[in-house]
Amino acid sequence: MSVTILAIESSCDDTSAAIIRDGVLLSNLIASQEIHNLYGGVVPELASRVHQQNIVPVVDLAFKQAQVGIDEINAVAFTRGPGLMGSLLVGTSFAKGFALSRNIPLIDVNHLLGHVLVHFIKEADKPHVPPSFPFLCLLVSGGHTQIIVVKNHLEYEIIGQTIDDAAGEAFDKCAKTINLPYPGGPFIDKLAQQGNPNAFTFAKPNIEDLDFSFSGLKTSFLYFLRDRIHEDPDFIEKNKADLCASLQYTIVKILIDKLVKAAKLTGIKDVAVAGGVAANSGLRNALTDVAVVKKWNLFLPSLKFTTDNAAMIGIVGYYKYLAGEFSDQSISPVARIN
Ligand code: KG4
Ligand code: ZN
Repeated sequence: MSVTILAIESSCDDTSAAIIRDGVLLSNLIASQEIHNLYGGVVPELASRVHQQNIVPVVDLAFKQAQVGIDEINAVAFTRGPGLMGSLLVGTSFAKGFALSRNIPLIDVNHLLGHVLVHFIKEADKPHVPPSFPFLCLLVSGGHTQIIVVKNHLEYEIIGQTIDDAAGEAFDKCAKTINLPYPGGPFIDKLAQQGNPNAFTFAKPNIEDLDFSFSGLKTSFLYFLRDRIHEDPDFIEKNKADLCASLQYTIVKILIDKLVKAAKLTGIKDVAVAGGVAANSGLRNALTDVAVVKKWNLFLPSLKFTTDNAAMIGIVGYYKYLAGEFSDQSISPVARIN
């Protein structure tokens, strides 16, 4: 019997719905909330309100695009957390109502596992080679920076993580200081392609084991700018591309050095990357080069699966369905998952 899952993702500022059948993606709709750009960051109260407006039309479109009827859905998967409580509540309530009205199982999904399992989403007519277990995953998003040993579809161990800011946050906060729009990561990536990565040097953290730290880099970037603007008020505008290239080079170096260390310590050769920052061209290029030298099997997600989307929730839902891991109507969202 085939298994068709409706998946809902609403953990931050994107409202997304996907339909996935036997691990093959049939539709994946994302409504982004442009309104936060005006505020330089996500405003939780606004995000929650916009999710409420978007969720029904987005789900409706997901059904239309997949050409699937409501009675063909076997289970509904939703993001339980981590994320913004007001945002998570909208997706959770919708999923619960849908499951109750259709009398089908409800499946709660950890957003972070969703990012990791994008490597298992199949697309019709596209070749698909997933990583072999156990594999290493560098999860880099706006809220998280982790190195994970993935043992099977539903079991994993975090062996390193940031002790302060996430890599995406470092991109976004530094971008703000050079007057780029929110979220700044993609803008830095674009400008960096015209700049010199060795133009400026910023402090790299000295953190034990496999953990990361990015708050020192942010401060180093800020103080560097303050001193240079003192000498030349137009310093930022004159050097924007070089600033972006040098900053990106530093963030990528911090990430890759730890990943290389993790691969050496664990002896694992299948290495994947996931999360919004996995879209970064500097990171993708550097990983591709390192993979050749270290003889890794590298798994780069397709760009549409890097930032938040419901397909990633659907693929976890699929494996939880196969494992018989369901939740009941008493479940509530959680802002943090340790
Ligand atoms: O995974 P995601 O969509 O949301 C979270 O779960 O946090 O990641 C969003 C983050 C933002 O910080 C954004 O700036 C970053 O991913 N990002 C990028 C790029 N595209 C998205 N950072 C660097 N380069 C990019 N091309
Ligand atoms: Zn995410």
